Amino acid sequence: MSNIEQTLSIIKPDAVERNLESEIKEMFKSNGFQILKEKKIQIEKAEAEKFYKVHETKPFYNDLCEYLSSGPIVVMILQKENAVKGNRELMGATNPKDAEEGTIRKKYGISIDKNSVHGSDSVDNAKIEIDFFFKD
Ligand code: CMP
Repeated sequence: MSNIEQTLSIIKPDAVERNLESEIKEMFKSNGFQILKEKKIQIEKAEAEKFYKVHETKPFYNDLCEYLSSGPIVVMILQKENAVKGNRELMGATNPKDAEEGTIRKKYGISIDKNSVHGSDSVDNAKIEIDFFFKD
């Protein structure tokens, strides 16, 4: 049975700054993802704090929110069969040092903070994160 899902992807400031937007989108497309919607935006720190609220008790929360709001980002709705899991596999481990060959973070990530992309970690969070950026 088919299980078409949507997930939220963000190309983070480190990757936009290095002009990697097209290459990263190509990786999504060549791995069977459709980009249903996309926009390039810069968000305020307060918005980043809302987006990453699940991490608010973590020691890295403040830096993470500073960072996500530090420059332009590209937010996208990706669609594919089992998109949430597929996107996490294509991104690779959170820390690029631990990411496998062929993953986006292995190829482009600089550090655990500047890891080039974000992707929803569950189907429920994908809905919340898509609404966060694309609710009209
Ligand atoms: P992301 O998938 O966007 O979700 C939260 C982000 O926090 C994560 O990618 C990392 O870039 C960042 N981060 C910084 N330090 C850590 C850490 N120790 N563990 C997990 N995520 C971290």
